[in-house]
Amino acid sequence: MKTRITDMFGIRYPIIQGGMHHVGYAELAAAVSNAGGLGIITGLTQPSAKDLANEISRCKNLTDKPFGVNLTFLPIVKQPDYPAYVQAIIDGGVKIVETAGNNPQQYLPALKDAGIKIIHKCTSVRHALKAQSIGCDAASIDGFECGGHPGEDDIPNFILLPRAADELSIPFVASGGMADGRSLVAALALGADGINMGTRFIATKEAPVHDNVKQAILAATELDTRLIMRPLRNTERVLNNTAVEKILDTEKKLGSAISFEDIANEVAGVYPRVMQGGEVDKGAWSCGMVAGLIHDIPSAQELIERIMDQANSIIKKRLQKFLYD
Ligand SMILES: Cc1cc2nc3c(=O)[nH]c(=O)nc-3n(C[C@H](O)[C@H](O)[C@H](O)COP(=O)(O)O)c2cc1C
Repeated sequence: MKTRITDMFGIRYPIIQGGMHHVGYAELAAAVSNAGGLGIITGLTQPSAKDLANEISRCKNLTDKPFGVNLTFLPIVKQPDYPAYVQAIIDGGVKIVETAGNNPQQYLPALKDAGIKIIHKCTSVRHALKAQSIGCDAASIDGFECGGHPGEDDIPNFILLPRAADELSIPFVASGGMADGRSLVAALALGADGINMGTRFIATKEAPVHDNVKQAILAATELDTRLIMRPLRNTERVLNNTAVEKILDTEKKLGSAISFEDIANEVAGVYPRVMQGGEVDKGAWSCGMVAGLIHDIPSAQELIERIMDQANSIIKKRLQKFLYD
């Protein structure tokens, strides 16, 4: 399939695996890229820029296809050493960066001088327009359904994607709620040039997470996610569990007096224990409503081929038959 996104990133299929904390390691990124999509290593999962450099070189040993690195700009006072991470990406010869969170403007000149394409993840049209105006090459539009941080506007993709299509001139992918060939065709119909998936890629054979995490996603329905940290204006969509219920109780009790410290036990530093340790009830971890559409654990290649086969069949057979001769 050929779209502006496949052309821009030099990939066979317009399917991106979004950066995911303690999931986006070289194994998954390489598997997705080898299958014709775009795999992405999560930069900040690596404790230092040196570790990121090692992860990039591990990925290069696993694939000769393009892959990217996610750089999430966090809304916290004690910032990671972003300039060093950016340098590791440039030195590693990576040609695609997925930025997310705060405005990436200050790092764009260095990245662009190195010939790197930037896809910025946004949860609103105004942020996507800003990304376009500062020189980002593409956008990933994350609807309210998405796993992780959906922002504070609560606009689902059925509205957000055509709004983005009406306003943007740079290409964008649809992110949030994407699972199969139906998602891909719908995203293309709404004006996107591809899809970005998070939760769906966790339930693949190559995702280097504990089987308990994959089984929790398989067991979940579309009713099983919750929004936490809304009072802190840092909303995150997570899979419901006992820790999440505790967070929601605390949020209800403390109201606007809440601070991050009140929920830190259930949020801070829990990812390695959940993702690698398999302690799925230990804390809050991102998961999309799309869990309701995930029923198996294929390889990345099986998943991507299935999506493309289904999309082709929908376009050629199902949609075609609605047309008059
Ligand atoms: C477990 C998990 C961790 C995530 N971590 C990050 C992250 O560190 N940085 C980021 O930009 N997005 C992160 N995301 C968001 C994904 O990249 C993607 O935008 C989102 O999952 C899309 O929604 P979906 O889950 O419905 O496919 C994460 C998502 C999940 C499920």
